[in-house]
Amino acid sequence: VTHIWNGAQMFLQWMKRLITFSYMTMCYLNGKILPLDEARVSVLDRGFMFGDGAYEVVRVYSGNLFLFQEHLNRLEKSLEGLDIKTVDIREVERVGKSLVAECNSKEATLYIQITRGSPTKRSHAYEENYEAKEKPTIFVYAMKFNDSNLSLRKNGCMIRSFPEVRWGRCDIKSINLLGNVFAAQFAKRNAVYETVFLGQDGLVTEGSHTNVFAVLNGRIRTMPKSPRILPGITRDKVLEIAEKKKLVVEEWGVTLDELLGASEVFLTGTSTEVMPVIQCDGKKIGRGEPGPITRELQSAYNKLFSL
Ligand code: PDD
Repeated sequence: VTHIWNGAQMFLQWMKRLITFSYMTMCYLNGKILPLDEARVSVLDRGFMFGDGAYEVVRVYSGNLFLFQEHLNRLEKSLEGLDIKTVDIREVERVGKSLVAECNSKEATLYIQITRGSPTKRSHAYEENYEAKEKPTIFVYAMKFNDSNLSLRKNGCMIRSFPEVRWGRCDIKSINLLGNVFAAQFAKRNAVYETVFLGQDGLVTEGSHTNVFAVLNGRIRTMPKSPRILPGITRDKVLEIAEKKKLVVEEWGVTLDELLGASEVFLTGTSTEVMPVIQCDGKKIGRGEPGPITRELQSAYNKLFSL
């Protein structure tokens, strides 16, 4: 009887493990696949010490990685900008695809983070040819995405402006995100969706995690690509759609006054998608409802992943 009882207990334990395992988020860290909450890096990792690394967030719709190649290309550019070498991007691609295939949800995001690695002592400057000794830290995981923006995308969101406090290389998708953290927290405290950065020259550069567009006299305006903004993948797609629709696009900076007086304003981003803005700094944008050009671009963008 004891034997049967013990056997049954063991069987139940294995079943429990199996069930937890299938619900557990798995990740890739430096060549190994393991549960997310078991992944560990050194306290000397240059990502932890200096924010010395780059990242990407890719959206997964119905189990498919959306614009994955574009994100990988940008990741390569970020790594080049940071002088982080020896990353096999094809390996990152393969790992990303396999984690998405194993993910317990078809609606997910894939997060990729690469740092310069973990040396044996802390020093701001890294050794020239450090890559001969140290490997970069590569971390990837896919996680279920709960889209909490459905009604905001339909009805429009509110934003606030905030001084540009970031560094001079915002074109690199660096894991150094303190300025963005300040801005996102400011949005949260003020119960708005996003904060947009306002440069000392009066131009609205981008949001804490989005790019910004305004419609002025029927023309679409957005900050040109430069070290002042992240070259958004969604931004590129929306510009491509606008061109196909023969809408007039001007890649020029927008001042805060212009933004407040625009007939339409919208944001773009991987998880934000195309988001109408109906209020900025407490002032109504246009008629205070999503405008026709925003709607047109939004519905064309949505078609790209909901075919
Ligand atoms: N954020 N600007 C900044 C500062 C961003 O961090 C992001 C993306 C964007 C939009 O880029 P894209 O269209 O390629 O997502 C613009 C990601 C999603 C994040 O940090 O979660």
